[in-house]
Amino acid sequence: MAEIDPERPHPARIYDYLLGGACNFEPDRAFAEQFLRVMPGAADAARLNRAFLRRAVRTCVEGGITQFLDLGSGIPTVGNVHETAPGARVLHVDNDPIAIAHSEIELADTPNATAVLGDLRDPDAVLTAAAQVLDLTQPVGLLMLAVLHFVEAPEEPLRRYFDALAPGSHVAITHGTADEEPEKREDVLRLYAGSGSPATPRTRTQVAALVESLTPLPPGVVWTPLWRPDEPVTTNPAHSLTYAIVARKP
Ligand SMILES: C[S@@+](CC[C@H](N)C(=O)[O-])C[C@H]1O[C@@H](n2cnc3c(N)ncnc32)[C@H](O)[C@@H]1O
Repeated sequence: MAEIDPERPHPARIYDYLLGGACNFEPDRAFAEQFLRVMPGAADAARLNRAFLRRAVRTCVEGGITQFLDLGSGIPTVGNVHETAPGARVLHVDNDPIAIAHSEIELADTPNATAVLGDLRDPDAVLTAAAQVLDLTQPVGLLMLAVLHFVEAPEEPLRRYFDALAPGSHVAITHGTADEEPEKREDVLRLYAGSGSPATPRTRTQVAALVESLTPLPPGVVWTPLWRPDEPVTTNPAHSLTYAIVARKP
């Protein structure tokens, strides 16, 4: 399991800095500034990702979901699951001890929402923890936002999670794209590889393949801002750098 290492930039804290949060160390800020030099839209992309979280959770609630498993949940900055789904049971799982420590503080007054240190590549451990707070015989909203591109081989863990979900469960994913700006992408990949958190962006087709055993809700796999937007999208949706999908287990 990951130890707290303030000398090494970590995805949770880099993302927190991009969102304007204060839960980050100097190496995280230095990494984020390098990232922003290559991809000046990265902070906007983080906010668009966070906005999708709210739309996806709302869609789950409309689909009758009252419990959520948020894998790679990050540092709770703004717009957490329980704010969009008050009263829902929520388990946050992240492999960054700092993210979990902040989640515990943030969630102290929210008895239905808890956080646990865990790695999504270990579905046995994650599902055991989930079964202690969620009723896995009932539909779950499984959230994996901006995390699967940090997992080199997510297929087998995903198969395990999808098998464990009750019919009617919803799975929401955002995922870094491999379809745009190949030169800048190479620079970003070099940055992440050098930080010890290698990233694996995927094409739209590859992202769709991750959930091929499920039924996508319209509009399918699209640029994140285009997934059921609340308002007309007036900027280039590819600047979100991520695809989004919500799919239902039949
Ligand atoms: C970019 S942040 C996204 C946070 C949140 N899901 C969101 O979209 O707002 C990625 C998060 O995934 C976590 N993470 C990366 N690899 C992970 C793994 N194998 N298991 C659990 N969490 C992981 C990082 O620690 C980080 O908090």
